[in-house]
Amino acid sequence: MNYKVPVIPGDGIGPEIIAEGRKVLEAAGEKHGFSFDWIEFPLGAENYLKTGELVSEETLKELSNYRAIYLGAIGDPRIKPGILEKGILLAMRFYFDQYVNLRPVKLLEGVWTPLKNKGPKDIDFVVVRENTEDFYIGIGSRAKAGHSHADFEVKRALYNVKFGLDIDSDSEEIGYQIGEVSKEGCHRVIKYAFDLAVRRRHQLSSVDKANVLSDIYGFWREIFLDVASGYPSVKTDFNFVDAITMWFVKNPEWFDVIVAPNMFGDIITDLGAMIQGGLGLAPGANLNPEGTSMFEPIHGSAPKYKGQNKVNPIATIWAGALLLDHLGQPKAAEDIVTAIERNLFEGRIKTYDLGGSSTTSEVGAEIARLVRST
Ligand code: IPM
Ligand code: MN
Repeated sequence: MNYKVPVIPGDGIGPEIIAEGRKVLEAAGEKHGFSFDWIEFPLGAENYLKTGELVSEETLKELSNYRAIYLGAIGDPRIKPGILEKGILLAMRFYFDQYVNLRPVKLLEGVWTPLKNKGPKDIDFVVVRENTEDFYIGIGSRAKAGHSHADFEVKRALYNVKFGLDIDSDSEEIGYQIGEVSKEGCHRVIKYAFDLAVRRRHQLSSVDKANVLSDIYGFWREIFLDVASGYPSVKTDFNFVDAITMWFVKNPEWFDVIVAPNMFGDIITDLGAMIQGGLGLAPGANLNPEGTSMFEPIHGSAPKYKGQNKVNPIATIWAGALLLDHLGQPKAAEDIVTAIERNLFEGRIKTYDLGGSSTTSEVGAEIARLVRST
């Protein structure tokens, strides 16, 4: 069996961590009888500065021939914040309609958590973040005093929406951003979360801010309740986003599966990463179960560490395990997570963020060795 997998190493530390991810996935392949052809796509800052292009329609079309993309990180200090993130990363999530952003929050054996008296049995949940809507749709602008008009369009595989906005303002200048969620968009991600809860511990927590942003998140709640009626075996609860950050710290053991709109999902998963031992350990999967999915660490491109062979590659290696699972190699995926856990538990070869002094490539090589020997 041979898998053709597009790889986007990206910016900053992206290429270094992706190299280790590939090393470990290849080791898992050797053991389980499959191999990879990695097809490199040089998207990111260098390409943008050279050609002025973020990601072309042609590249997106080409990428859509594959089931799984392996991504390092996107973002570069030479370029205004948001240009690459929105123009490449979000553009791909939206184009491929990767409506689930799956972010496991699992404390592995041997990892230090900042939460006092909490261990691996207390911190083991999954955040299902909606990944195509909410305040991420890119609708917003600024308007100076007086009258102005703005037109916006949201184009999704599921639906299109047009907004035409007439503004009359006597403020010197305003900035605004419109969030939108759709019935179809909420329904599918909430259903995904319920199905996941059924395969886990039968508990699903919803996140919103329906007490203030009641039109958008009251609607989310209504759709949640509607989907919930089809899953009588799953225990559910609603959480305001501010409160859930508190429960993550105080009682993480309460959670099994959490489903959240895009922006709140973004925010709470950085906190989730911290309680599972840091951003260096947290993987993510952007899923379109019927199309092209994309696997990446949840951390960014950490430009100040670029080229130093210093950062932790584990989040990317773990994201690689999620990729293998998605491609139908659950045993190989499990071997990788077991190898990561052994490496962390033994604690000999670890990067600076975990209190060690090993290099990125030493950690990758060690986890690859453990994969071969388990
Ligand atoms: C993430 C990141 C992205 C997001 C940024 C880089 C656009 O923070 O993957 O969590 O907000 O989704
Ligand atoms: Mn984020």
